[in-house]
Amino acid sequence: MKETEPIKVMTEGHNMKSYAKACENFDWRDMEKAFSWYETGKVNAAYEAIDRHVDSGKGDKTALLYSDPKREERYSFREMKEQSDRFGNVLKKLGIQKGDRVFIFMPRTPELYFSFLGILKVGAIAGPLFEAFMEAAIRDRLEDSEAVALVTTPQLLSRVPHKELPALKHIILVGEGELDEGFYQLEEGFCSFRKEMAEASTELEMEWVDREDGMLIHYTSGSTGKPKGVFHVHNAMLQHYQTGKWVLDLKEDDIYWCTADPGWVTGTSYGIFAPWLNGVTNVIRGGRFSPEDWYGTLEKNGVTVWYSAPTAFRMLMGAGADVVKQFDLSKLRHLLSVGEPLNPEVVRWGLETYGKRIHDNWWMTETGGILISNYPAMEVKPGSMGKPFPGVKAAIIDDQGNELPPMRMGNLAIRTPWPSMMRKIWKNEAKYSEYFRIPGWYISGDSAYRDEDGYFWFQGRIDDVINTSGERVGPFEVESKLVEHPAIAEAGVIGKPDPVRGEIIKAFISLRKGHEPSDELKEQIRVFVKEGLAAHAAPREIEFKDKLPKTRSGKIMRRVLKAWELDLPTGDLSTMED
Ligand code: WT7
Repeated sequence: MKETEPIKVMTEGHNMKSYAKACENFDWRDMEKAFSWYETGKVNAAYEAIDRHVDSGKGDKTALLYSDPKREERYSFREMKEQSDRFGNVLKKLGIQKGDRVFIFMPRTPELYFSFLGILKVGAIAGPLFEAFMEAAIRDRLEDSEAVALVTTPQLLSRVPHKELPALKHIILVGEGELDEGFYQLEEGFCSFRKEMAEASTELEMEWVDREDGMLIHYTSGSTGKPKGVFHVHNAMLQHYQTGKWVLDLKEDDIYWCTADPGWVTGTSYGIFAPWLNGVTNVIRGGRFSPEDWYGTLEKNGVTVWYSAPTAFRMLMGAGADVVKQFDLSKLRHLLSVGEPLNPEVVRWGLETYGKRIHDNWWMTETGGILISNYPAMEVKPGSMGKPFPGVKAAIIDDQGNELPPMRMGNLAIRTPWPSMMRKIWKNEAKYSEYFRIPGWYISGDSAYRDEDGYFWFQGRIDDVINTSGERVGPFEVESKLVEHPAIAEAGVIGKPDPVRGEIIKAFISLRKGHEPSDELKEQIRVFVKEGLAAHAAPREIEFKDKLPKTRSGKIMRRVLKAWELDLPTGDLSTMED
């Protein structure tokens, strides 16, 4: 628990003038006045994000600045409205109804955003899936959600076991090859995005919903069981809007870039809603990460507000300050980070290199929006996640629910509710209630402490969930995949600390009779997980063991594996089999 030198407020004129003032008399109901539904009573988050700006005379303003190595496009709010209206009509023609789950599995392109908004406009529930997912991950998610329609590309289609998914009625193919015969003309249930969009009207009859109606499902990992479908409702827009104002400090003329993919919650809450609810120009960059590409994106678009992740900042730090000097980043005024601990040295490096503070903030898929943050108008303590958002009460509590005093480590918990809180875990009441097992509190699963000034400091996960490069991986999912491999008898998976990725995935494996450890086998196993589940879920390290530590009931003891790995005491072994 060592404190580092706080970094003073560097510029003036932020949306939030003073943290203390913002907390005084804070009331979420005051935020509602920003929305048209405050007057009309008609709710739809896609309307508030896009159409509202057209109706209030800002239709010509650029909403989306898209580029990837092959495309460069710009869409105004009016064009976004037309395209998403068209897509809503495509869905209506297919018979999609309010509450239906419509999933999106494709790389970041403008079509992804048209689809996402169109889904919301017809009152359906969007399920964006990260493009790197492989078949097993796709099957789990489409099966559990009983998605009725999927937007995907011809290239990704081979990873969708559509014949084994009875609920899935429609596949809308988008991108290169979508018009090729065979994909959609011969098989029932297939259609071409481009063809349908061309035929659809640009005027959609919006489905007005209730604030508590569903709009989005993100699957995320826990330490046991399959991924959980975290269910969010339209009301979340309140939090997206206000955190966009006070944390991202978004203003009328900002050019904003969030580097996250909409397959993860940061890519929806802060890659779609926060900027557009605030009427701000949103930069989307497709393709792969490289320092030159990213700095080029900042320069070319004149990005002013940049929201990224520790692993990216660490990679940029690794690439050195010389690369930075080749680019003009003078427009940048506000930098933010989320997803895993932001090392104090990265904050200090950012200050030296960009001349700006990087503002760490904390939240989760389940919380739907930022709950703890460093604000532009507040001193930044490098290494701390900051202070609770006004109107949000965060605390450190023990396992009985008692609030702990400053400097004591315990469960990071949030007083319920807040506007963007998940409303259920899809079809899993039991998992949902685990988060709320102490009355009045949401238990995050993180451990942390609060200092005397009210700043929160992340200490670790309480469960076995792994955070590798900001991506949350459940050890159980990886273990389940591993034991499908014909050479593997048992597998135990842990997160191992890593200077760039935060944690890497390490697998301990015992082999079946007749199989011998070898480097080839390690490689084969890595590829097996990569191709079966997802690249980011593949173990970077594999260690073969004759036997794995297990409880008498047969559960693999990951904490013992971790202790072995880190040379720590193994703790209580009374439940371990001999
Ligand atoms: C977990 C949530 C919603 C943001 C993207 C990740 C870890 C998140 C921080 C931070 C230290 C952090 C926590 C949390 N985490 N932000 N600023 N400092 N750890 O969302 O995949 O749902 O993961 O990410 O462990 O519980 P997620």
